[in-house]
Amino acid sequence: MKNLRFNIWAIIALSIFVFACDSTEDVDPDVKDPQDQNNGKDEEVAAIPLKELFKDHFPIGAAITPQHADLGTNHGEALVKHFSSVTAENVMKPDALQREKGVFTWDGADRIVQFAKSNNMKVRGHTLTWHSQSPDWMFYDQNGALLSKEVALDQLEEHITTVVSRYKGDVYAWDVVNEAMFDWDPNGEIIYREDSPWYKIFGPSYIDSAFVFARRADPDAKLFYNDYNSIFSWKRNKIYNLVKRLKDNNIPIDGVGLQGHWFVGTSEEEIRTTLDLFRGLGVEIQITELDIPVYMSNDEPGSTVYTETFSTRQKQAYKMLFQIFLDYKDIITGVTFWGIGDDATWLDKPGRKAFPFLLDENLQPKPAYFEVQKLLN
Ligand code: XIL
Repeated sequence: MKNLRFNIWAIIALSIFVFACDSTEDVDPDVKDPQDQNNGKDEEVAAIPLKELFKDHFPIGAAITPQHADLGTNHGEALVKHFSSVTAENVMKPDALQREKGVFTWDGADRIVQFAKSNNMKVRGHTLTWHSQSPDWMFYDQNGALLSKEVALDQLEEHITTVVSRYKGDVYAWDVVNEAMFDWDPNGEIIYREDSPWYKIFGPSYIDSAFVFARRADPDAKLFYNDYNSIFSWKRNKIYNLVKRLKDNNIPIDGVGLQGHWFVGTSEEEIRTTLDLFRGLGVEIQITELDIPVYMSNDEPGSTVYTETFSTRQKQAYKMLFQIFLDYKDIITGVTFWGIGDDATWLDKPGRKAFPFLLDENLQPKPAYFEVQKLLN
């Protein structure tokens, strides 16, 4: 009898324990900063759409897929609510538009441009000349040998002229050349990305040609050189020298795109120094591919849970960045995120989510969003 009573109690105790464990598993893993919830501030303050916040300063953009360009989807809805500009994340790249020589595929790009036009948004074109996501025929003949300068130049002209002409008046700014400078070179000895097939065929002169072709096809479009890691001294000096050389030679370039694939903890000083330096070139600056993963670097172990630490880091980082963008609004003419919300980003890896945006996985404003909003109040 004693044993039986003990067993009953043991079963009850075990059930309570199992139930308790179970219910902790039910807690939403995507815990937001509890401090914000306690203050209640962020939850109570209504979010002002991003494009409204910055309407007197610069367009706010997002990189999108053609599927996002649909008002019947959550993405389409978030786009028209928050953004005043869009960029095609992939479908305007050379391999998407002209995978086969002479055969252009416009569907995806057209859809994005139509969506933008009917919703009063700008379109940034990305990208005309790049070593990556470009078809082999642009560089190699059927035997795999590099093309002659003449053939490659004709093809480059044909590509740029066809693409820019099609979207003349619709695409207001083009990334004419993407990522031409050599990276990871602290001594600054190697100037250009020499493994680029464009460079192998031409040396740096393809850059000049690309800008000339783009200007001819649409004299009103703003023409940009776009690159990453541009805030580090070894690279920003190369970009500075390139743009200076182009301008000195009357090559039509209007601006420099800083991609902005930074981390939380990125250096405020490096960004300000870069903007000060580029200001001297007399060109516009756009932040073209902004995403700030929650990590300090690529080496930090990954997580699939958005922790309080991540939230705090991101609040600081975004506040710092947008304060800089506002401080330099006389030269910054656009800020584009490389996606819409944390549900979809090129930075995600299995077991390692990046959570890089101001909108969460449900496209709702995160605590960092409200930090940015506060800067404008
Ligand atoms: C990325 C896209 O986001 C990915 O979907 C694609 O697989 C690879 O390219 N710099 C650029 C962008 O200029 O075109 C890149 O976009 C990200 C880095």
